[in-house]
Amino acid sequence: MNPVLAELHDKARAVLDPVHYDFFAGGVGDEVVLAENEAAFGRLALLPRVLRGKEISTDFPLMISPTAFHRLAHPDGELATARALSGTTLVSSMASTVPIADVVAAATGPVWFQLYVQPDMDVTEVLVRRAERAGCAALVVTVDSPVFGRHRRDIAHGFHDLPAGLTAENMRDLAGEALRNIEMSTAISWRHVDRIREMTALPLWVKGVLHPKDAVIALGHGVAGIVVSNHGGRQLDLVPAALDALPAVVDAVAGRVPVVLDGGVRGGGDIALALALGASAAGIGRPVLWGLAADGEQGVRRVLDVLRDEFLHVLALCGGELTRDMVVVRGVAGC
Ligand code: FNR
Repeated sequence: MNPVLAELHDKARAVLDPVHYDFFAGGVGDEVVLAENEAAFGRLALLPRVLRGKEISTDFPLMISPTAFHRLAHPDGELATARALSGTTLVSSMASTVPIADVVAAATGPVWFQLYVQPDMDVTEVLVRRAERAGCAALVVTVDSPVFGRHRRDIAHGFHDLPAGLTAENMRDLAGEALRNIEMSTAISWRHVDRIREMTALPLWVKGVLHPKDAVIALGHGVAGIVVSNHGGRQLDLVPAALDALPAVVDAVAGRVPVVLDGGVRGGGDIALALALGASAAGIGRPVLWGLAADGEQGVRRVLDVLRDEFLHVLALCGGELTRDMVVVRGVAGC
């Protein structure tokens, strides 16, 4: 892990209520996937290309993945995260502790809205309209959560509810109710995705695809992009590391839409590996929460700055281009 990220993580752990630290840090089940997401990067190596004489692009292919409840990490919550963007895209969680309109108003980069489809489609439509009105540039429908993940750390702490004064602000005043809970439902299907696509002109991404067949189906439903993700090891503790699932999805999509990878990205080199395996960008979840808890807006900015700097350095050392033939398995000769 990049040492600045490690320092921010240590500081976050020191300042956070241990119950809230565990909510952010934890995964589902035995936390096999949580560990695998990071370990997968360590199993791969990059064969740089030399003497390519190329101008190195300064594009920074990173986005902030949606994470819930930023005000548990810092009193300014999602406002601090949004202020730190300086051009980076924030996918703002439907479970944010600041309303989406305020997140967008504070943002110094594009904001996309992450949505868990609510079985009551009237509620879903109100959420979509709020995202549109706020000025979000895209919708990201999370598709890996037909039920809530079972997080043993939260169960052990009895952590079910936000502390008094904090709430999922986007869930206020929906369909005649002052405050609704976010619902998960196994009844959600591609039909619901179609209905959302019909109700809005915003580009529609799906997040949480691991099977290449689902990636192909997603294309048939007109998605603008796919996030390969296992929810940071927080849903099914039997899935592969997100990075290991990436190449098959990239092959299935065959360049028709962009594919983003999240899960376990902890340094600029990890972003480079994801790109070499065909991702058009990488996403980060927890590192932003550590920066936010450690030092608010400034902490998030440090996370983004250090990852940008490290990624561009790696890119230069690789000859300015990252392709799949440059990725080899560490410790295996002749590949
Ligand atoms: C998440 N994630 C998530 N995803 C989503 O679609 N909606 C959400 O509200 C949340 N909330 C959330 C809370 C916390 C505390 C975590 C750690 C994660 C998943 C998130 O978008 C992303 O997929 C992972 O966090 C990526 O893995 P890393 O970078 O945390 O390893």
